[in-house]
Amino acid sequence: MKLLVTGGAGYIGSVVARMLLDNGHDVTVLDDLRTGHRAALAPEATHVDLPIHEAAQVLTPDAGFDGVLHFAALIAAGESMVRPELYWRNNTVGSLALIDAVRAAGVPRLVFSSTAAVYGNPLELPIPETAVKAPTNTYGATKLAVDMALTSEAIGHDLAAVSLRYFNVAGAYLRGDLAIGERHDPETHLIPIALEVAAGRRDKLQIFGDDYPTVDGTCVRDYIHVVDLARAHLLALTAAVPGRHRIYNLGNGNGFTNRQVVEVVREVTGEPVPVETAPRREGDPAELVASSALAREELGWVPEKPTLHDMVGDAWAFYRTHILEQR
Ligand SMILES: NC(=O)c1ccc[n+]([C@@H]2O[C@H](COP(=O)([O-])OP(=O)(O)OC[C@H]3O[C@@H](n4cnc5c(N)ncnc54)[C@H](O)[C@@H]3O)[C@@H](O)[C@H]2O)c1
Repeated sequence: MKLLVTGGAGYIGSVVARMLLDNGHDVTVLDDLRTGHRAALAPEATHVDLPIHEAAQVLTPDAGFDGVLHFAALIAAGESMVRPELYWRNNTVGSLALIDAVRAAGVPRLVFSSTAAVYGNPLELPIPETAVKAPTNTYGATKLAVDMALTSEAIGHDLAAVSLRYFNVAGAYLRGDLAIGERHDPETHLIPIALEVAAGRRDKLQIFGDDYPTVDGTCVRDYIHVVDLARAHLLALTAAVPGRHRIYNLGNGNGFTNRQVVEVVREVTGEPVPVETAPRREGDPAELVASSALAREELGWVPEKPTLHDMVGDAWAFYRTHILEQR
């Protein structure tokens, strides 16, 4: 298929672009590099340096795209609370412009990166797709708005739409000398921050809150390996049906506390990871664990790297070879 990958210079988009190319697809990456990295761009992909708001310049009716995989977004929940206008303009207004371009060009399918953040504080665990959607931050709200727009677009204009609601993504894509991994700036995700501490690049890790109703008082999250997540995108592309908006949660169905994650980072790296407990962060749910039963049933998706050791081990291999050694 001829595919447009928005956000293909970012963490997840670059891994998916790589796997699409490896599976014989023709890939164009649309990414203005506002948070992405030129080094993450696959050399065989065509790169268009434009914001998604201008996607119509690439998605012309003659270009013949078979689908769009839409990763481009701002992703920091904390920042979204202090600069909400940035998130609405980028994530929601930008996505609406992309959907307009998809419709005008007659592109038949779109796969969207949605998020567990649409659920807010869940009333049921593990969380099914039918759970109440009540985001506790602007980031989650901007993503939920796009999910809703896609439902309308599928009904009104026959788009084959799929939203994949990721839980916490971790790990790296490793193949021979090639390694593609997580590199956010500033980094807000637990595993890469813990690796920076293990590598001696930060003096300590902050854990926000140790009085939650969980086994050790720290928050519980569900982690999914980026390669398993990428495989779900390839399955979603072929499972998309015109006129339907399918929505799937993607996680492993196992929760780990922040302290358990740090312990695995210590085991994998063999290094100390000093921890400091900080106050709870506003809007952080105690526990987020996915039910991915629907993805397993309808997409035939089965995670192949479900353990935290898989994810931390691969993330550490990427960090050592591509971040530490290149400084
Ligand atoms: N990382 C996670 O754990 C996680 C969890 C749930 C959902 N998601 C979603 O997955 C997607 C990818 O996340 P990521 O971790 O790879 O983020 P990332 O920041 O590494 O990548 C995002 C990419 O999008 C590009 N981009 C952003 N706004 C753009 C715009 N207006 N025009 C063109 N390019 C733009 C950036 O330059 C960057 O390359 C996001 O939509 C995010 O909301 C991520």
